[in-house]
Amino acid sequence: MTNSTNQYIKPITTKINASGNIEIGGCDLVDLVEKFSTPLYVIDEATLCGICNDYKKAFEKYPKVRMMYASKALCTSAVAKLLSDEGFGFDTVSGGEIYTVYKAGVDMSKVLFNGNNKSFDELSLAVELGVGRFSTDNFFELALLNEIAQSKGKVVDILLRITPGIECHTHEYIQTGHLDSKFGFDLTQIDEAVELILGEYKNLKLYGLHAHIGSQIFETSIYADEIEILVKEIVRLNEKYSLNLDEINIGGGLGVKYVDSDVPPSTFEIGDIIINKLNEVIEKYNIEPPTVFLEPGRSIISTAGVTLYTVGSSKQVPHGRKYVAVDGGMADNPRPAMYQAEYLAEVVNKKESEKTEKVTIAGRFCESGDILIKEIELPELDEGDILCVYNTGAYNYSMASNYNRVQKPAMVMVNNSSADLIVERETLDDLISHDIIPDRLRL
Ligand code: LLP
Repeated sequence: MTNSTNQYIKPITTKINASGNIEIGGCDLVDLVEKFSTPLYVIDEATLCGICNDYKKAFEKYPKVRMMYASKALCTSAVAKLLSDEGFGFDTVSGGEIYTVYKAGVDMSKVLFNGNNKSFDELSLAVELGVGRFSTDNFFELALLNEIAQSKGKVVDILLRITPGIECHTHEYIQTGHLDSKFGFDLTQIDEAVELILGEYKNLKLYGLHAHIGSQIFETSIYADEIEILVKEIVRLNEKYSLNLDEINIGGGLGVKYVDSDVPPSTFEIGDIIINKLNEVIEKYNIEPPTVFLEPGRSIISTAGVTLYTVGSSKQVPHGRKYVAVDGGMADNPRPAMYQAEYLAEVVNKKESEKTEKVTIAGRFCESGDILIKEIELPELDEGDILCVYNTGAYNYSMASNYNRVQKPAMVMVNNSSADLIVERETLDDLISHDIIPDRLRL
């Protein structure tokens, strides 16, 4: 079976050019650094479009699949515009993400609003902007959303998010489908929720069920287990309450390859598993094919992104490790500190160098845990060298902070030898732009 883009560590356009430097999207990374400085996030448009096509191809045999992008992985205006042009809808989890996709010109009927504690303001904004589906998470939200919709004279279209009781083998912090989870209705609470929607909550219209099992998943069979549970439940609810529920949202979660030992399945494998299971349950329950929403985040954007850093100081611990520090770290990529995540890096300007040494890549932030890569074999590094860390498109910029009062990096999108700035580097004035010194302190 052919590979899909999430099975590569590096963007598909990565190569060594005539100057011996790494290039991506036809852009020499040394030139990018000269122009845009470091740390710098780089997104390769060809890789991003490549994975979109992989997903579309993987599901073309089941026309009732709706592809959505989980924008929590990376939500910027340009990325939203590009994915919307690719025909994707958006899974959003905050007013900020909803506003970003709205301003990028996304068709709001293809947007879903998810989350376990959506605020009054966020729900109100989502109702006003015409968000297409609300994945309602709990009883509190049902009441609040109904009240907001009623006050605006609207009926809003919802799914119920459930915890299907499926555990996947990933980092405990990114598991979500197991029973003891903060997300969604327990299976035993579904009927009560449905009865409220059919009775009291006249401004909510139920279309189906939603579940999400976890993230960075390498197992394929759990998607089949999830479909079995979701379809069984909608069939049961349709019979019990004479409904026509015909939508299931199976979440995201497909993994990517950060390092050689990661072996994620391809979109095509996942597609076959999902479609075969759908055909099986359609026959078993004798139902019309349900509409199936998929909302991957990481597998769409991760491989397309790299981060460029400049090497600064280094320290050889006597009889111990050699630390080489770069000009970024846990504020632009908190994943190693949070999840012990591993990454591959290469030196942009010394790709062909023979001499190597084992080093630890340290960040520049004031915390011992700020280590980007624990041990990696690289050409001997000198101050000023450029390091490229691969597979940083997902959950890097979206989880970035201003820890140590450091400006967030810029982001460029590369394609066909040109590079467009899509997020400006923060300035020192940006950092203090929301600060206020009360008058009484000025006296
Ligand atoms: N749908 C729902 C309801 C989700 O909660 C998530 C991710 C997704 C879709 C997208 O999952 P993906 O395809 O990206 O795996 N910060 C963590 C990942 C947290 C994922 C949270 N939910 C990390 O850096 O690994």
